[in-house]
Amino acid sequence: MNKSVIPYGKQNITEEDIRAVINVLNGDFLTQGPTILEFEQKFSDYIGCKYAVAVSNGTAALHLAALALGVNADSKVITTPITFAASANCIRYCGGEVVFSDIDPISYLIDLNKVRETLSSSPKGTYAGIIPVDFAGLAVNLEELRKIADEFGCWIIEDACHAPGGFFVDSNGIKQNCGNGVFADLAIFSFHPVKHIATGEGGMITTNDENLYQKLLALRSHGITRDKTKFINSIDFANGNDQRNSFEYPNWYMEMQELGYNYRLTDFQAALGISQLKRADEGLAKRRKLAKKYFDAFKNKGYVIGQSGVNEGHAYHLYIIEVKNRRGLYDYLKLNGIYAQIHYIPCHLMPYYKNLGFKLGDYPQAENYYKGCISLPVYPTLSDSELSFVISKVNEFYG
Ligand SMILES: Cc1ncc(COP(=O)(O)O)c(C=O)c1O
Repeated sequence: MNKSVIPYGKQNITEEDIRAVINVLNGDFLTQGPTILEFEQKFSDYIGCKYAVAVSNGTAALHLAALALGVNADSKVITTPITFAASANCIRYCGGEVVFSDIDPISYLIDLNKVRETLSSSPKGTYAGIIPVDFAGLAVNLEELRKIADEFGCWIIEDACHAPGGFFVDSNGIKQNCGNGVFADLAIFSFHPVKHIATGEGGMITTNDENLYQKLLALRSHGITRDKTKFINSIDFANGNDQRNSFEYPNWYMEMQELGYNYRLTDFQAALGISQLKRADEGLAKRRKLAKKYFDAFKNKGYVIGQSGVNEGHAYHLYIIEVKNRRGLYDYLKLNGIYAQIHYIPCHLMPYYKNLGFKLGDYPQAENYYKGCISLPVYPTLSDSELSFVISKVNEFYG
């Protein structure tokens, strides 16, 4: 990318990151080695959950999460229309039905009152689960959502792709980290380059549930188990049918017990993840500082009709403002080398979902938000002078 261009998001790779990757490349395991478990353990420590399963990307994490919770053609699942399509697509991969629920116009998160309305409008048992998204980095109040989900017998997959390090404060005054598994059954993360932790492609699933953890490990790798205590075929069969009176399964033996996938992360990506994780808090602090500066710069400007605001638990994957003449601003910024972005085109209005029956007017808050939203650059290496440049160009456009 041209040096003078300011993108909306960008990875931060240091010499230490590069050395960590090279060390693994010089070692014995490019994949299925010990660095994966190390990354999983360090990530679960960071998030504050019991288990973590590294996977090839955030979309694979969503797919496996849906499979582990048993999503199938009979499952109806609720998610937000303002998200990356993968949050909804994972349900379609399993043949299930997606139902969107409109957003709150201030927080831009799924509106929990509307979720309750949707669930209440059908007999209990109609919906299998809910996929809330910590959109832009702002944590969904999962304590509240858990109460609703329990009332209707639903599971929760928290899409925390935007929010490693984000948190909300629960009714007991306790900080609840995004993805910590206290209220959600499973949570998922992405390590795409624009995210807080970058591994190129990569993802993680977190949980406190040991059964789900074991299921995810198998599904990540073809549905294969090497755990002797779980084998279904006999020891004699495993040794070769002509062998009799064998007392142990041979070392080579493994069983494919269900239909799984190859959604593994490589060890050199995991090494990059571990190295990036060391700077996660630093990056988060910088994102919060930048967001505060944007907020202060725009709080009294009449042309900014909405701002994602300042919230101490916000992880600021994105800094979003809502403006009039968004198209004009976008083009003007681009002319000046500032590549703002739009997050997101409402998912239900993507032609794929329109073909399933969704239409304009279904989710008015999401559609209204889309008319004015624009994501301004926010990433740890964005300098103060670049930030001032972005702010000055926005102000200049509105004159
Ligand atoms: C909210 C959300 N969910 C899921 C994903 C999918 O992650 P990945 O790109 O790693 O497959 C993304 C990535 O952009 C995302 O922003």
